[in-house]
Amino acid sequence: MKKEYTSIKFDYNNMMSTYVGAEQGITDKELAGTKNLAVQAHTYFKLNRGTGMMGWSELPYNQAEVVKDIMNTAKIVRRNCDAFVVLGIGGSALGPMAVFQALCHLRHNELKRNQRKAPKFYVEDNVDPERMASLLDILDLDKTVFNVITKSGSTSETMSQYLIIMNILKEKYGDKANEHIIATTDAKNGNLIKIAKKENLKTFIIPDGVGGRFSEICPVGLFPAAVLGIDIKEMLKGCAHMDKLCRKSDIKSNPALAAAALQYLAIQKGKNISVMMPYADSLKLMADWYCQLWGESLGKAVNNKGEKVYVGQTPVKALGVTDQHSQVQLYTEGPFDKVVTIIGVENYRKEVVIAGGCEDFPSVSFLSGHTLNELITSEMYATEYALTKNNRLNNMITLPEVNAHTIGQLMFFFMLETAYIGAMFDINTFNQPGVEEGKNATYALLGRAGYEEKAAELKARPQKSENYII
Ligand code: PA5
Repeated sequence: MKKEYTSIKFDYNNMMSTYVGAEQGITDKELAGTKNLAVQAHTYFKLNRGTGMMGWSELPYNQAEVVKDIMNTAKIVRRNCDAFVVLGIGGSALGPMAVFQALCHLRHNELKRNQRKAPKFYVEDNVDPERMASLLDILDLDKTVFNVITKSGSTSETMSQYLIIMNILKEKYGDKANEHIIATTDAKNGNLIKIAKKENLKTFIIPDGVGGRFSEICPVGLFPAAVLGIDIKEMLKGCAHMDKLCRKSDIKSNPALAAAALQYLAIQKGKNISVMMPYADSLKLMADWYCQLWGESLGKAVNNKGEKVYVGQTPVKALGVTDQHSQVQLYTEGPFDKVVTIIGVENYRKEVVIAGGCEDFPSVSFLSGHTLNELITSEMYATEYALTKNNRLNNMITLPEVNAHTIGQLMFFFMLETAYIGAMFDINTFNQPGVEEGKNATYALLGRAGYEEKAAELKARPQKSENYII
């Protein structure tokens, strides 16, 4: 029998002037005024889907073969390994981390092997020497598989990690070192594909038109997820489900297009910060993933016509309820420069009852008999209320439950929203020239051949003055 799926919900009442006041809020007229822009963005997406840098939009539909390979390889890794380590950064790390946290036990690595039914999971997305050294202290290499992931095949951070790990593995296992490393990279570009061939590494290919921050639903994210026992077919079905919900060019019936149009209008009103605030620990790293997607895609100096535009909206991550005791004061009373997106969960996967006691203290004992589920949900609605009462733009995305299908929906929703708003700003959503500048400067500082000119440019920069160092 065909399974009925419930969709995630996007509620934008509190973006509207009726609820947050005429001074800050968006009017129905303003929203209706984005019609042409929305149709344009939607048409652009429709015409370009599956081509150029929009290869990611077809991923829910065109991976049957690779999914088989992923599942077969993952089965072997799951059976034989006690630790699975991703070596990657940016889009090659944040998706796998977000999905792991959303869909595995929140204390996965601390569970006993028979409880977790999958290897321990680590993502090394930094080159802090202390972090790498500490990882090496705890790993049992005999039972560890590394997954080196890089689309460009040449990112210094990831390739340094690869060099360190491969050297250790070769010293220990000689010719069999390759049994401990799996590569995920581009089929043609970069060094990793050549190295993988030379070292005879099992390799997954990142398809064309799939940039780092749009790569979670290709082997970059699907293979680690499958190793963890996550139902990747359900995740892809969730993406397809959202894709279908977003097929129309009318904002009233396309949630991702509506979200993009609202953020577009909010930015015109000076809301230069987008706060992503899930009320679930399982979605904490989803906010990190969103921050990269939103920040790197939309922060652009020039538009497609080559004009200077300096657009973007600074993404900020927050966690409900934790950040109610840290950030919400600022969100409710500080500058009117934010849109807060709350992510709620209708049914948490566990229920915890607050025990009785402290009967002599009514201001404590009123909590007894309630559940933590009720407490977190009430606090979420209380924050929504406080923000709205203080005329702060906010909206709410509700997941019926956190599962592979709804996570697929949520991630695809954000990817579509990002693509739409990028088209509204007429920018290249899929490049990252600002990141490249830093990458090139690093190569120059470390003496990479071919970067002599950049090294000279760096050398010629104004030297720092002792006057400004205390
Ligand atoms: O979104 C992007 O393209 C970037 O953030 C990349 O993911 C990041 O720079 C890592 O690049 P690569 O996967 O090529 O190592």
